[in-house]
Amino acid sequence: MKRLNGKSALITGAARGIGLAFAEAYVAEGARVAIADINIKRAREAVENIGNAAIAIELDVTNRDSIDRAVSETIDNLGSIDILINNAALFTAAPITEITKEDYRRAFDTNVSGTLFTMQAVAEHMIDQNIRGKIINMASQAGRRGEALVAVYCATKAAVISLTQSAGLNLIQHGINVNAIAPGVVDGEHWDGVDAFFAKYEGKAFGQKKKEVGAAVPYGRMATPQDLTGMAVFLASDDAGYIVAQTYNVDGGNWMS
Ligand SMILES: NC(=O)c1ccc[n+]([C@@H]2O[C@H](COP(=O)([O-])OP(=O)(O)OC[C@H]3O[C@@H](n4cnc5c(N)ncnc54)[C@H](O)[C@@H]3O)[C@@H](O)[C@H]2O)c1
Repeated sequence: MKRLNGKSALITGAARGIGLAFAEAYVAEGARVAIADINIKRAREAVENIGNAAIAIELDVTNRDSIDRAVSETIDNLGSIDILINNAALFTAAPITEITKEDYRRAFDTNVSGTLFTMQAVAEHMIDQNIRGKIINMASQAGRRGEALVAVYCATKAAVISLTQSAGLNLIQHGINVNAIAPGVVDGEHWDGVDAFFAKYEGKAFGQKKKEVGAAVPYGRMATPQDLTGMAVFLASDDAGYIVAQTYNVDGGNWMS
């Protein structure tokens, strides 16, 4: 029995990386999925590969009008939204003395405001339609503890954990479960960008930081996006009905909290 049969999911930032792996896993479990991304070209390519259980939606999570349009477009095409994954995010790094207001704004607008207001728009729909929905926010081990060169990104992910707690407590009265996943280090295009930051600030050769963080994971390697799909399917399934406002580490043993 497929665990998400008949469900419709909106996944932000799903044109590549972890979000794309979530979309593929959800379709394999019987769901239909809206791949919503600022990069509509990549979203369309993803849909071509996945097939007709997926649709591509243009979305900029920093813009409330764009969120509202993406939500209505998803409902028009899929009938409803039973599951939301707030996955879109930007990484940024700099020593405290070099952080710019512009970078701070971009990261908070995308990672925090984007998560909050997409959650709000979808929760309005779920409440209105009496949908006992599931909302999953993408946090990070970066939200569990600050890092010397990663102040802004870490702060955005700590905020995602906090928003998950408040929204989880507020929305469970409507039968909507809000929880989060905190990955550790996940290989993919995102990490190429992270690696470039560390090459700049720690004088490392390109690829060096990636090797170091992979070797430091108790499991013995970085995660693949597919390592996270089990938790994303579980939290979206009926089995997770009694789980409220939690953030789960899926990180090969990096953190215990
Ligand atoms: N990769 C990791 O090591 C790692 C670790 C912990 C947490 N995470 C979190 O997991 C999630 C996915 O990470 P990933 O590695 O797949 O990242 P990624 O950079 O590969 O993918 C992010 C996607 O979000 C999209 N996006 C960016 N800004 C957007 C906006 N304003 N509106 C809509 N879409 C936008 C991008 O186009 C991209 O497709 C993120 O929330 C990230 O912070 C990643």
